[in-house]
Amino acid sequence: MAFDLKGKSLLTLKNFSKEEINYLLYLAIQLKNAKKNGSLKKKLDGKNIALLFEKTSTRTRCAFVTAAYNEGAHAEFLGKNDIQFGKKESVADTARVLGRMFDGIGFRGFKQETVETLAKYSGIPVWNGLTDLYHPTQALADFMTIQEKFGFLKGVKFAFVGDGRNNVANSLMIGASKIGIDFSVVGPKSLFPQNELVAECKEYAIGSGASIMVTESIEEGVKGCKVIYTDIWASMGEEDKIQERIELLKPYQVNMDMIKMAENDNVIFMHCLPSFHNLETEIAKKYPDICEVTDEVFESRYSRVFDEAENRVWTIQAVMEATL
Ligand code: CP
Ligand code: NVA
Repeated sequence: MAFDLKGKSLLTLKNFSKEEINYLLYLAIQLKNAKKNGSLKKKLDGKNIALLFEKTSTRTRCAFVTAAYNEGAHAEFLGKNDIQFGKKESVADTARVLGRMFDGIGFRGFKQETVETLAKYSGIPVWNGLTDLYHPTQALADFMTIQEKFGFLKGVKFAFVGDGRNNVANSLMIGASKIGIDFSVVGPKSLFPQNELVAECKEYAIGSGASIMVTESIEEGVKGCKVIYTDIWASMGEEDKIQERIELLKPYQVNMDMIKMAENDNVIFMHCLPSFHNLETEIAKKYPDICEVTDEVFESRYSRVFDEAENRVWTIQAVMEATL
């Protein structure tokens, strides 16, 4: 199995076919095994990777850096306060400069338009490490984690519970509809994904046999599920909406009652992280009802959250190796 993805940017999974997504997952699993048995080859020796980050990050930044190092490449972190970008220099000019010096760009930020402009003007592969709209490398790591747990992806029943119109939900729905995962978004109507995106995913689903459901009913969305997934209720840049989201999403907190509603002892709990599963952080102390998942579920045998975090490395490494 091999696909020629050389030179291609990963801006959203919309631009990747089912076969290309499956190939990236296959490659990621190969890379993980190779690292574990000491046979990993440095295929990107001498390449330079720019990491342009407008928003904060632990997993995505570390995954890019370690994946680059694993491949023999150098990663240079460019935080938004370190460079001229956005203050003195336009996106297009920054893109053209980075394109002359680097071989690939990992971007994290606000507008989807920014990552698209970087790709348009830099002339090198650009990888979206999260925008307000999408988080495609996260979805790849999540699919890899499901593949590892169950041995297959097609026909897996998956429920995303909570803020159904956020970047993670959007990317999971796009990827799931392409690769044949039966996907439900479970949450309040005001946080349903955009109708246009649901319609687009239903089109992709025709080709893969996936089903797409959007529902307010936890019972309907979660029953028979193999995967229950959630994310924080207010994403980066939405800090002013925390209180409003707590009120809307409290009934959708992932707790043991919800896990039982899956009626499947093999069900797994997934989360892209970071998570407010206890009150140890500054924000959680200020908003004690912010927990999108209980500590009991997060720390339970159902939880696969740290497998997902680790798999960020292998999927990002697969994307870099395939596109460079
Ligand atoms: N899941 C994820 O993207 O984590 P970071 O925000 O820490 O990169
Ligand atoms: N939806 C979250 C994901 C964090 C990885 C955010 O955008 O903050």
